[in-house]
Amino acid sequence: MRKKLIIANWKMNGSVVANSKLLMAMLKFTNRLSNCELVVCPPYIYMHQVKEYIAGTNIKLGAQNINANEFGAFTGEVSVDMLRDFNCRYSLVGHSERRALYNESNDAIADKIKSLVAGGIIPVLCIGESLAQRERGEAKEVITTQLAAIIDVVGLKCFKSVVIAYEPIWAIGTGKTASVEQAQEIHQVIRQYLSKLDNKLFKDLSILYGGSVNENNAGALIKQKDIDGFLVGGASLKADALERICLGETVIIE
Ligand code: PGA
Repeated sequence: MRKKLIIANWKMNGSVVANSKLLMAMLKFTNRLSNCELVVCPPYIYMHQVKEYIAGTNIKLGAQNINANEFGAFTGEVSVDMLRDFNCRYSLVGHSERRALYNESNDAIADKIKSLVAGGIIPVLCIGESLAQRERGEAKEVITTQLAAIIDVVGLKCFKSVVIAYEPIWAIGTGKTASVEQAQEIHQVIRQYLSKLDNKLFKDLSILYGGSVNENNAGALIKQKDIDGFLVGGASLKADALERICLGETVIIE
């Protein structure tokens, strides 16, 4: 069985005081997480703080981005080795906000994946279609094209180490989640696409769903055959919502 993976993407949110409160609240439920890996991706500046809080617990540390270069004159950037200094296990790559706001290309994303894999950090590759692409019936094609663009550069062997996060852009931060059918359909497309390329290499592939995941919709989504966990933005800043997402409890709103 694939392990459930929940990644909390704090984005550019938090403060020393707010993080401390959130982490204390998270530590109260993390010992009840069985068969679920919880990863926190704070802004870089708070990595040390998070590392101190999660020491000795089963929470893992993740980054929101990296620079593919080893070291040198790259003002404002952080390398894979620096992340390893903090025992960082995962890094997001190609989040749609980075693709859109910082012009991250598939080639740049591929370089980051290569550096992460070489450094032993698991890349979490974000892919997803825009609303216009979905409305034109292009969602599946957009997804497979995004996968192919990366695989062409990094190769299948390297890509095997990647976790995939399907995040329809229209569902991110909008409160509009993909329906369970829409999410499962794309997750299945991703799994089938990769198994066709190499069934054995991708038999343990983890595919996460992201986009307005919360304590009310997580329960139904996780029941889907090809959904292995979540990349959670807004709801990950609230300990009680995150707890329900991790423990798979659904709150029915009357
Ligand atoms: P959201 O963000 O849960 O706030 O929609 C998800 C993400 O961007 O990773």
